[in-house]
Amino acid sequence: MAQTKSIYTCQNCGTQVPKWMGRCPSCNEWNTFVEEVVAKKQKSGKLLAQILGNQPVTLENIQSSKNNRIPTTITEFNRVLGGGIVPGSLLLLGGDPGIGKSTLALQMALQLTERKVFYASGEESLQQIKFRAERLKLSNSNCYFLSETSLENLIAQTEQVQPELLIIDSIQTLSSELLESPAGSVSQVRQCASTIMKLAKRTGIAVILIGHITKDGSLAGPKVLEHMVDTVLQFEGDTNYMYRILRSGKNRFGSTSELGIFEMTGTGLCEVANPSEQLISKMSDHVSGTSIASTVEGIRPFLIEIQALVSSAAYGTPQRSATGFDLRRLNMLLAVLEKRAGFKLIQKDVFLNIAGGLKISDPATDLAVITSILSSNIDVPIDHKNCFAGEVGLTGEIRAVSRIEQRIAEAQKMGFEKIYIPGNNKGFDSSKFHIKLVPANRVEEVFKSAFG
Ligand code: TYD
Ligand code: MG
Repeated sequence: MAQTKSIYTCQNCGTQVPKWMGRCPSCNEWNTFVEEVVAKKQKSGKLLAQILGNQPVTLENIQSSKNNRIPTTITEFNRVLGGGIVPGSLLLLGGDPGIGKSTLALQMALQLTERKVFYASGEESLQQIKFRAERLKLSNSNCYFLSETSLENLIAQTEQVQPELLIIDSIQTLSSELLESPAGSVSQVRQCASTIMKLAKRTGIAVILIGHITKDGSLAGPKVLEHMVDTVLQFEGDTNYMYRILRSGKNRFGSTSELGIFEMTGTGLCEVANPSEQLISKMSDHVSGTSIASTVEGIRPFLIEIQALVSSAAYGTPQRSATGFDLRRLNMLLAVLEKRAGFKLIQKDVFLNIAGGLKISDPATDLAVITSILSSNIDVPIDHKNCFAGEVGLTGEIRAVSRIEQRIAEAQKMGFEKIYIPGNNKGFDSSKFHIKLVPANRVEEVFKSAFG
């Protein structure tokens, strides 16, 4: 049997020791040793043969693999990937526990009836997988399941099954017998991922690795993975709400600015093809404190409802709270309202909420945020046929935003009659829109026009 040896390497200074230590004797850092497998030395003759077998080529001599992506039946997923899964690629699907990663992966596996799919789970038993499949009301006789945590067996079984797509749920539960450290540790995650990567490149099997990423990134495993894989997809959302967003953080075969929107239902994840409709449909007409923003996430425009509640502070210090919006940015906007537009909000509690539990980072939502705050403060509703797009600067000026034409087009498509846009956003053809455009340069102009 081949002899393998493991060695412990300090991740800070590179010192190697034969046994694990809490503190590096060389650089004095704590808890930096990670177990690694020492590769056996190869005979130089074999090495030369390998080098000769793998020679450089020119671009014309490389076979193009343009059309052999594996399109999944989930359009939103294909959109984020840039068309489909590339054979031989390694894709990391990350996200908080309970967000729906296993559900998404299983749905995809069961819907790919034309391809051989291998779904290996270390998290769930075969009965649990079957139970989930029944809940999803899906079945696929071309899909093979394995409940396994040993890397070596998984590799052997994959070679046997020879699937086109391998799904591993999750990388943190896999462990290699060559290492002593527990599953989920940095050294195990790295060893498993690199073995799987070699398998993928050698056989052309596309691999989806599922990984848990905690909010503060405290779990080091997936961070190590990000460098090794070809594509990183992040599944986000608030588990208490039904909307989920799939974003790509890294994509060697497509753009990273696309995003997919899903809704978690009783029978799995459904695609949301027209998010605007879903996110504003339940809007009630004559309630103060709501405002619609025309926002762009990635390159996708949609309309979203912003809700604000302003009330007199019951206790000494007023509360400011925001759900789905950056609290520091809210405080900044409140300071602008106070200082530049003369609104007395200092003794008021301000609560801000983005509909549907989504998180918005687009600065063009500023204008809708401040109008919703003002609407609640003076208790005057905003005309429900109005919407807003504009970034607010520190002096109360409205700054130009990106993709203004898409924002206007989306508002028009959704039947809005008026959109407030930054006065500086020029250089586009406004004649093609029939929605009324209201360019504004300062927040006061918007207030005067929207609240009469
Ligand atoms: P899951 O895919 O297990 O999350 P992850 O793998 O990311 O940890 O999803 C778990 C949640 O999804 C769980 O709270 C129940 C919910 N869910 C539904 O609402 N509908 C469904 O059809 C399924 C399968 C799960
Ligand atoms: Mg899971």
